[in-house]
Formats: sequence, structure tokens, C-alpha cells
Amino acid sequence: MLTDITGQVAIVTGASRGVGRAVALRLSELGARVALFGRNQAGLERTAELCAEHTPPAGIWTPELGNREELETAIHEVNERWERIDILVNNAGVFYPDRVDSADPFDIDRMLDVNLRALIHATRCCLPYLKESCMARGRAVLVNIASNAGRFGIPGEAAYCASKHGVMGFSEGLFREERELGLKVCAICPGWIATEMVEESGIDMDRALRPAEVAEMTALVARWPDNSCPTEIRLYPQRDPA
Ligand SMILES: NC(=O)c1ccc[n+]([C@@H]2O[C@H](COP(=O)([O-])OP(=O)(O)OC[C@H]3O[C@@H](n4cnc5c(N)ncnc54)[C@H](OP(=O)(O)O)[C@@H]3O)[C@@H](O)[C@H]2O)c1
Repeated sequence: MLTDITGQVAIVTGASRGVGRAVALRLSELGARVALFGRNQAGLERTAELCAEHTPPAGIWTPELGNREELETAIHEVNERWERIDILVNNAGVFYPDRVDSADPFDIDRMLDVNLRALIHATRCCLPYLKESCMARGRAVLVNIASNAGRFGIPGEAAYCASKHGVMGFSEGLFREERELGLKVCAICPGWIATEMVEESGIDMDRALRPAEVAEMTALVARWPDNSCPTEIRLYPQRDPA
């Protein structure tokens, strides 16, 4: 019943570690050719090595997501190399928890830039290619890794919440714009995940979600049947890590 994604081309942002690495690996296990986006070359190469156990070599691109020109150039290069883009996973993100009255304005800007603005521009730039995939094969898939912070307000994380609420609004609006073509748009809202992003948060990492669990959910959306679209998924650790 699930769609075979062998040979499809997927861009994964933030693929140098954490959730992005796990997503890239899972999609590559399923036969997709994966374009790894990030800045940390060593981390990206490690992800590529892991992917190479399954599919032809993954490609590495190193755009700074805060730089729209670099981001767009990288996306066009992926299409030039593989002549299609079927799946975009907007995963990259930054998390600088702080109260608004003490937050560094630079950190607020970075969260809005990377978590929301870059996600919108990556999507806008990929959209013509995703639509070509819809036209050719009846489907294409966009997965946005949001957060439970995209669904309610959390004290000490207000600006991060704002960035992730933006992702939720964008995802639903875009789905409604493009659903007739066959574009799936899904926002995944995980709770705590055991990655470097939150290692100083004082949570019980053993209780947190594993990156592979978020990756499995992403892969499920990527393979979901044509006739329906999971537009929002909440994924919580079974036991509260906080
Ligand atoms: N961890 C959690 O508890 C949690 C919970 C809910 C949602 N999330 C969301 O899940 C997603 C993945 O988080 P994670 O936990 O895997 O985080 P992570 O381990 O900190 O990884 C973040 C990734 O984003 C990339 N990135 C950050 N800023 C970038 C920039 N300016 N340009 C290009 N790439 C950039 C990093 O790449 P480079 O270092 O190579 O630049 C890295 O690969 C994020 O959207 C996060 O908000 C996380």
C-alpha cells in the first residue's frame, strides 16, 4: 500500500547530525537519492558514508540557510545533477531558549531566519521541481520538522515557539494551495528528541525520542498513499523526559 520511493530525489536540510542525519539515512535505505544540506562538512561526509551503504552516493551541499542566494543555488544544483526533486525535508533548526526579556536579539533573529524564513524560501525554490514531480508521477512530498512548540506556547521559549507556529501556518496554507496537484505537505511536531540541540536542557535523554523515530515518521509520510495526506503529526516520547 505504501509508495516505493526508490530512485526518488530527496533534499534533507540539517543533515550533518541529529534528526536530519537519521532522516537521510532512512530515505536512503528506502532507495532514495539524498541531497544532504548543512554546513559542517565532516558531519555531512559521515552522513554520506552511512547513506552509501544503501544507495548511490548521496550529494553534499553546504549552503548557509540564512543566505537566500546560497540556498537557492544549492537547490538548483540538486535539480541539475539529478534532474528531479521529489521530496523536501525542511529539518534544519536552531533552538536558543530564553525569556524574551533577557534574550539576545541575535538569537531571536537566527531562530526566525533558520527555522522559518529559510524553510519558506527552500520550499518556494523547490516548488517548481516538486510540481514537475507531481505532474510526472502524481505526487511529491514536503515534510517540515516543526515541534510541539508549534502547537502551544512554552515559557522560556517564546521566540522559538513563534518560529515553529509560523511553520504550522505555512504548512497548512501551502497544502491548501497545492493539494489538487498531489503535493503532500506534512508538519511533524515532535516533543523532546535526544540530539545535541537539547543536550544542555537537563532533560532525561534516555526518555527522549530517538532521531530514528522521527525519521521513521518522515519516511512514512514520504511513502504515504496518493489518496490522502497526513498534514500534521504529533510525536511524543512515551514517558516525559522533562
Ligand atoms: N531536539 C529536540 O528536542 C527537538 C524537538 C522538537 C523539534 N526539533 C526540531 O527538529 C529539527 C532537527 O533538530 P535536531 O535536534 O536534529 O538539531 P541539531 O542536532 O542541532 O541539528 C540541527 C541541524 O540544523 C543545521 N543548521 C542549523 N543552522 C543552520 C544554518 N544556519 N545553515 C545550515 N544548516 C543549519 C545543522 O547543520 P550544521 O551544523 O552543519 O550547520 C544541523 O545539521 C529542528 O528543526 C528542531 O527545531 C527538535
